[in-house]
Parts: sequence; C-alpha cells; structure tokens
Amino acid sequence: MKVRKAVIPVAGLGTRMLPATKSIPKELVPVVSRPSIEWVVEAAMKSGITDVILVSSSGKSAIEDHFDRSPELERTLEEKGKHELLKAVRRPRELARFASVRQHAPLGLGHAVGCAREVVGGEPFAVILPDELVHGEVPALAQCVETAEATGASTIGIVEVPKEDVVRYGIVDASEHGERTRRIHDLVEKPAVADAPSNLAITGPYVLAPEVFDELDRIEPGAGGELQLTDALRGLAAKHGMYGRLIEGERLDVGRPLGFVQANVAIGLEDPEIGAELRAWLRERLGSE
Ligand code: G1P
Repeated sequence: MKVRKAVIPVAGLGTRMLPATKSIPKELVPVVSRPSIEWVVEAAMKSGITDVILVSSSGKSAIEDHFDRSPELERTLEEKGKHELLKAVRRPRELARFASVRQHAPLGLGHAVGCAREVVGGEPFAVILPDELVHGEVPALAQCVETAEATGASTIGIVEVPKEDVVRYGIVDASEHGERTRRIHDLVEKPAVADAPSNLAITGPYVLAPEVFDELDRIEPGAGGELQLTDALRGLAAKHGMYGRLIEGERLDVGRPLGFVQANVAIGLEDPEIGAELRAWLRERLGSE
C-alpha cells in the first residue's frame, strides 16, 4: 500500500487549550521554535508523504498561510541578509505540496475526513491527528505504513491505555498478529469502561484504503452526536480487513496544557541551540525542590 497523501483535520476548536487558542489556531501554538503542526508535517514527510491536505474551517486560515509564501517578509529578510531566518521561513512550504479544503460545520472527525474525498481521489491515504505528536526514532506514520505495506490492508496506530481512559478514545477489538501488529475485528468510539472490548486505543495515524469514503457516506451521527471516523472504520474492517500497529515512541498530546509543556521540554532538550542550557536549568530547578 503506497501512501503519498495525508489528510490533516485542523478544523477543531482547541477548547482544551482555551483561552490560549481564542484567536490562534491550536495547531500554530509553538513547540520550541516551530508551530506544532510543522512538527507533524515534518514527520509525515519523513514517512514518505508528498501531499498534505488540510481540512480547515473559518478562523483557521493562518495555518494555510504558514505553509505558503510570505513575499513581504521574505523580501525584507533577503534585503537584510538574514539568510538563516529566510531558510526557516521558507522551510514549511518546502516540506510537501499543500492543498486545503473547508469543513463548513463541526460535524465530527468522520465528516472532516469526508471533506477531503475529491482531493484524495481513489488511492490509499493517511489521516494524521494534529494533537498527537509522537517523539521517537521512527515517525508513527512510518510505522503504520510499514504494517500497511506488509499486510496490504488499512492500518491504524493504537496504544494501550489505562482501563479508565477508554472513554476518551476509539477502542479496538483485536487479536495478536505479530509482535507489534494486531488484527482488528471491530471498533467502538468512546465506550463506557464496562463495554470496552479492550484497552487498545486508537491514536492514529491512520493508513486507509479509499473505500473508507463509501463507508463515510453511510454512517449516522454516533458518540457525542458526531459523524465518527471510527464508525466508518467498522465497515471498512469488516469488508476489507484492518490492522492495528502498536506505536513505539513517546506520545505527547499537544492539544492540552500538560502535553504541550511536555512536548516543549522533550523537543527543547534535543534542540542544538537551547538543549544544553535547558537541561542545566531543569537540573538546577528540580535539584532545589
Ligand atoms: C478522536 C477519534 C478517536 C481517537 C482520538 C485520539 O477523538 O474519534 O477515535 O481515539 O481522536 O486522540 P477526539 O479526541 O477528537 O474526541
């Protein structure tokens, strides 16, 4: 399963980061020196993605601008001889080819992915949730692509979560199929603890066969009254097969304050410019507690 295109839904309101996200899209809140979405797109590029499709909404056009030219700023930096900054400003748009579609109403993740149908066309594609930064050696999407290529079927990123957390996720009913691979039999969005078929949660990314769009046409509002991607995946799994890939790496949920701070520390510690100083500062800080 060759995957070139990635759909990134960025129409969400970012309520868990309010009031910071009142007038700034949550995807543009910086993690160290780059907006969090740039880290996500970079990981996609390292996983073989060449085309990114942003599903955005009104009030989110700054995200599209981040991956576009900025003629005035670039001219000014050029005139001032600020070549390093110029490179950093040009970098985002060089990571991939970008297209964007609009989701006109917040009807759910399934609806958001459905909005990208025409741009994706009839080929396998990835869906990446922008809140989920995975910090590790191999990007989460590259791990899913590996399993999708080995099995020839749709593959979604899963992780084990504490039993009481199943209510926050899509949960899979799955059986073992190799060390980090599970065969998925069914999926349920945000089950009650007593109804969860396992504690294996969907975190994405998703590598999906294009038939998912036909399944998206068929779903009715589900958990939370929203059109859920998970509900469309049930039909896809039943008809075409589906695997889960247990994602390796540290999950950083940048859509909420704790995960956002953790991401800044984890990525900051590796930053060539600030890493050493940050480490020394943290040591001193924690040593004095
Ligand atoms: C979405 C998906 C859910 C998944 C979760 C991961 O839910 O619907 O299946 O487990 O992302 O973060 P949301 O967090 O948008 O409610």
